[in-house]
Amino acid sequence: MAGNTFGQLFAVTTFGESHGPAIGCVIDGCPPGIAIAAEDFAHDLARRATGRTRHTSQRHEADEVEILSGVYEGKTTGTPIALLIRNTDARSKDYAKIAEQFRPGHADYAYWQKYGHRDPRGGGRSSARETTMRVAAAVIAKKWLAAKFDVVVRGYLAQIGDIVPRGVDLGEAGAARIDWNVVESNPFFWPDASQVAELEDYMDALRKSGDSVGARIDVVAEGVPPGWGEPIYGKLDAELASALMSINAVKGVEIGDGFAVVSQHGSLHRDRMTPQGFASNHAGGILGGISSGQAVRCSVAFKPTSSLRLPVQGVDVHGEVVEIVTTGRHDPCVGIRATPICEAMVALVLMDQALRHRAQCGDVGEVTPRIPAGSE
Ligand SMILES: Cc1cc2nc3c(=O)[nH]c(=O)nc-3n(C[C@H](O)[C@H](O)[C@H](O)COP(=O)(O)O)c2cc1C
Repeated sequence: MAGNTFGQLFAVTTFGESHGPAIGCVIDGCPPGIAIAAEDFAHDLARRATGRTRHTSQRHEADEVEILSGVYEGKTTGTPIALLIRNTDARSKDYAKIAEQFRPGHADYAYWQKYGHRDPRGGGRSSARETTMRVAAAVIAKKWLAAKFDVVVRGYLAQIGDIVPRGVDLGEAGAARIDWNVVESNPFFWPDASQVAELEDYMDALRKSGDSVGARIDVVAEGVPPGWGEPIYGKLDAELASALMSINAVKGVEIGDGFAVVSQHGSLHRDRMTPQGFASNHAGGILGGISSGQAVRCSVAFKPTSSLRLPVQGVDVHGEVVEIVTTGRHDPCVGIRATPICEAMVALVLMDQALRHRAQCGDVGEVTPRIPAGSE
């Protein structure tokens, strides 16, 4: 079974290649009656887009969404929603030389061995251009989650290389300590305004050196009610990990305190409950694979960009040694543009899980008074 569809009840199928005529998606299972217009997509697509600052790839795509079906008189009809974005700034000549080469750290070799035929232009289907459609589909999910449940999904850059936000304690309280206006007002989605100039200098020096660097993004979903998640194999944390890991260049996903739990004691880690609220949120808002009503917290590790203008020795499709020099336009740190993509995957998982919970357990209601989220 091919792997281009995501979700069970809110099922998103994406299609298209980086330098093909267009990219698009079909969303099946969307509830009817959600108000949607082409303009609704602009904000999140601009947050993900290249070429908006000097710190990202200089490809300039208009990213205008055409709604082809599933919306009538401004509202979803419950029928498949098809969204299309035409590629307007593909420069395929940049890739002519490397069509027969395997760029290290890229999907070229693996795609070639698997399919025996591939579109090398701009990375073809393996390019992060595809993630544009995830962000577009998630605009609808975010809108529904906010309208129905007051759920808000937001992310920020929590590390670039060795630099971490200084003036913000990102600890377990997560969202409570983030000034989201600061995050949205700088090109790095960085929560500490006092460090933006330092990051600009760091990125300028990195770009000049021709090298790249990794990054970490944290995502917080507030307002998630208790009960979302489908044990055993559709646990909320399992689906979030899978969804976030499906993003290009992701090498690690943590839920709650993640790998820090290894050195914690249970007396610290277990999140004590009182009728007034949870005393902490080490678990990241998920217990037994089901949301607890606390903020859902995830952390995502992005590897450094593989395409560098620094030459490297590699291998071509004939197995011969070649020198590979990557031209084209690239992100020196792919994590910078990935915040809206991580938010999108979290929103798509939550939307799907909300519908699945409603389908099976919609009649259960709340059997015990809800424990407030507490320290979030
Ligand atoms: C937002 C975003 C932008 C990216 N831009 C680039 C890029 O400009 N150059 C590059 O070499 N890789 C880029 N990547 C990463 C590649 O798509 C990815 O490393 C490659 O397809 C191999 O897949 P893998 O790293 O998941 O194994 C980007 C990833 C993301 C999420």
